Amino acid sequence: MVAVAILAAGKGTRMKSQLPKVLHGLGGKTLVERALLSCESVNPSKRLAIVGYQAERVKESLAHYDSLEFVEQKEQLGTGHAIQQLIPHLKDFEGDVLVLNGDVPLLRSQTITKLWETHTTNKNAATLLTAQLPNPRGYGRVFCDNDNYVQHIIEDRDCTQAQKQNRRINGGVYCFNWPQLAAILPDLKADNDQKEYYITDVFSMMQPVMAVDVEDYQEINGVNDRRQLANADRILQARVKDAWMAAGVTLIDPDSITIDDTVTLHPDTIIEPQTHLRGKTEIASGCRIGPGSLIENSTIGENVTVLYSVVSDSEVEAGTRVGPYAHLRGQVKVGQSCRVGNFVELKKTSLGEKTNVAHLSYLGDATVGDRVNIGAGTITANYDGVNKHPTAIGDGTKTGSNSVLVAPITLGKDVTVAAGSTITEDVEDDSLAIARSRQTVKKGWRLQS
Ligand code: UD1
Ligand code: CA
Repeated sequence: MVAVAILAAGKGTRMKSQLPKVLHGLGGKTLVERALLSCESVNPSKRLAIVGYQAERVKESLAHYDSLEFVEQKEQLGTGHAIQQLIPHLKDFEGDVLVLNGDVPLLRSQTITKLWETHTTNKNAATLLTAQLPNPRGYGRVFCDNDNYVQHIIEDRDCTQAQKQNRRINGGVYCFNWPQLAAILPDLKADNDQKEYYITDVFSMMQPVMAVDVEDYQEINGVNDRRQLANADRILQARVKDAWMAAGVTLIDPDSITIDDTVTLHPDTIIEPQTHLRGKTEIASGCRIGPGSLIENSTIGENVTVLYSVVSDSEVEAGTRVGPYAHLRGQVKVGQSCRVGNFVELKKTSLGEKTNVAHLSYLGDATVGDRVNIGAGTITANYDGVNKHPTAIGDGTKTGSNSVLVAPITLGKDVTVAAGSTITEDVEDDSLAIARSRQTVKKGWRLQS
């Protein structure tokens, strides 16, 4: 039986932020969520998060994990003190506890599984993840005997110059036999440079304690400041992009592209430079996305092109062309083989099949049928200053350039709206609507000076 506890009570002073460190985002998730999710592979029977600094905010951000228990650490007196707070919550717990710092977001599930298996097969009192770092500055140094049994851990700031030469560092990821840990936790002392209770002090009081080196040292990168956050992001991005390229997606100038690991792509899609794919986005095969596009929480069908455009919370069906410079936002649904072109904004609007909105339009709260042509500069006046109103446009209808459709309004099927009209009344099927003043020409008229 294994419980998971995430340390998320610290402020993260080095981030210089209003936001608690563990709530900083990385590829669409917070740091603490990433730490939590990396442990799912061991099937924990209990999940605990130790919160303190801005506890309410941290709890709120994790509220959608229903089996998560919150443990309050009122004062942040160090990582050892944080784990002491678990004692009443794990009173009769006889199993092992996996403890993770909330600021270690790049762990792979297989690494956690390996830690857990090493711990159980060797019947260790404690087991921890370590790495040999090229630059170990800032991390606790782990001193072992020749068989990987840990003797003690010394924090960077408490190390002598000679001890600092040890490049084996503590990753802040531990597995403990809980009854053995609980018995010694009350004995921790704060006799160090920071006057804090360090969890790392328990290792010299337990036996046997084994260190497991991670294969890829980048996995245990801790995030303490913005530079380390940017570095973690680079590592994560490289992983995500390598995986999609291996799965048959072309990325042109991958360094300029960002892809959240919540995104799904399909083979033979081409992602062009300066494109950013975020949230729960799925892009089918045969698409060309970018250059210069942002797609967020959206579904894109096969063979769609999106050029220099922003698409959020929307759905675009197969064969449609979007852009350049289009903005689809909030519950937009564009049918198959449509064209949404230059400087067009769609909001809460659906287009049927083979419908074109090619230039300079705003359609909001509109339901548009099939084979409709929305002329250049057509605008739905959907907002009266207080409420939003709907517009409905039937199949085969054409609006002339610079039409204003004052909602609520319905245009039937096969309607033609003359250019420059301001339409305020519904128009029946098969009709022409003209709503503009007639042109007057005064022959021979000249300005008198
Ligand atoms: C810690 C380890 C260090 C290790 C490094 C790995 C200790 C004493 N040191 O150092 O050996 O190399 O992680 O990244 O453990 N936290 C609380 N309550 C507290 C203090 C901290 O919940 O009172 C949480 C923080 O929110 C954070 C985590 O514990 O998620 C680690 O704290 P941090 O201050 O970042 O420890 P490091 O100095 O990085
Ligand atoms: Ca840290």
